[in-house]
Amino acid sequence: MSIISEFVKAHPQSKRLHEKALNHFAAKGATHVSRMWSPFGPYMTHALGCKIWDVDGHEYIEYRNGHGALILGHGHPVVIKAIQEQVLKGIIYSASHELEIEWAELIKSMVPTAERVEFFACGQEANMMAIRIARASTGRRKILRFENNFHGWADELIAPGTAGAVSTEVKVIPMHDLKVLEEELATEQYAIILTEGGGARMAGQIPWEPDFIRAVGPMAKKYGTIWLLDEVVTGFRDGPAGWGGLMELTPDLTSFGKSVAGGMPAGVLTGRADIMEMLTPKANEPWISHTGTWNAMPIVCAAGVAACKLLKDGSVQKQVNEMGAYMRQTGNKALQECGYNWRLYGRSIIHIYFGPVDFEVDDAGNPPTKDIKKLLAGVEEKHKLGVYLLHHGIHTHQGRQFILSIAHTKEDIDKTINALIKAIDNAMADGAIGKLPAGS
Ligand SMILES: Cc1ncc(COP(=O)(O)O)c(C=O)c1O
Repeated sequence: MSIISEFVKAHPQSKRLHEKALNHFAAKGATHVSRMWSPFGPYMTHALGCKIWDVDGHEYIEYRNGHGALILGHGHPVVIKAIQEQVLKGIIYSASHELEIEWAELIKSMVPTAERVEFFACGQEANMMAIRIARASTGRRKILRFENNFHGWADELIAPGTAGAVSTEVKVIPMHDLKVLEEELATEQYAIILTEGGGARMAGQIPWEPDFIRAVGPMAKKYGTIWLLDEVVTGFRDGPAGWGGLMELTPDLTSFGKSVAGGMPAGVLTGRADIMEMLTPKANEPWISHTGTWNAMPIVCAAGVAACKLLKDGSVQKQVNEMGAYMRQTGNKALQECGYNWRLYGRSIIHIYFGPVDFEVDDAGNPPTKDIKKLLAGVEEKHKLGVYLLHHGIHTHQGRQFILSIAHTKEDIDKTINALIKAIDNAMADGAIGKLPAGS
């Protein structure tokens, strides 16, 4: 019996729920496109620390971690206590309250470029506001973005060619081409340029070349374009001041989400006071009205304050990055010993690479090639591998990433690497994964 048939047999309740879900949710029964699995994914019942359990009683080591929001792991007692205390005092006041100030102060104390702070319901809302602020303050309409950089699903953020994408006002250029970047910026038509923290896709499946990302800010400034660094994933994860802090970048605006609110839904935009001043009502000048039912809900702020206090001194991030390094090292040793053309790279989000190894992954977690095509190759193979990993008790982000939290121990990582090797062995034996993918 193939592993997939075994998986189906071992997950009867998930199969039953998946069949029900197909009647409701158009994306093959899933409520988020990245939660689709073939034949189906496990239906979860509860989670704690770095473990998550499904309706059929299976336990998984958890590497999705709330789409990257849970650097503190599931059910961190400090965050849970803060939420429990607040829920009894009120979920939403639609009025000002002290927690929003405390949260803003904590964020400002960690992020040096945060002169002003604005709260939203999610990360992409912060990006949308960044665009509006840039348009209002520059008087320009156009948006410059980079290929493969993800910023949300709104019309101006989604990949070109996708339904709803705005192509007239949004230009998408390749990463790492300074000449193209300067040619575009020099037209002086762009209100804003958007860059993902760490690199494209989940903290750097395609990492930024340091020289290139450092050139973006000065060049944008030269041509009057506002620079947004999107740290929705990397913010408070790569370090207290995010990835931008590690790289000593000074973007005009920075967006955050995920980790900043300890697993509650939120987005945050920070940046230069002079441009965020556009949000101040004025009598005879244009200004931007910021509404939003869920802005700075007390229950979200309570979780945000609790999380940010834990993330402030950098020790959580240090521990998670060290665990990432351990995972890379043990994983890559095992993969090499088995003669597999797979590698693990990244920092606290570990990316799976399937393709020819141009050089070994270094201590900084840089990938085994600089070739973007190779870094992106094997999406289908990885997705299939993800189901084999589930069968071996590992819950990954689409078979592509292991998103780490403070709850992971070396023992969890050792188990994961054993499971990874077994999953690749099984997938190879079943013919689910064949030769190296195109692009190699
Ligand atoms: C880099 C980046 N920016 C923005 C977003 C959108 O954030 P949200 O889903 O909170 O709207 C995401 C979501 O994964 C992201 O990865």
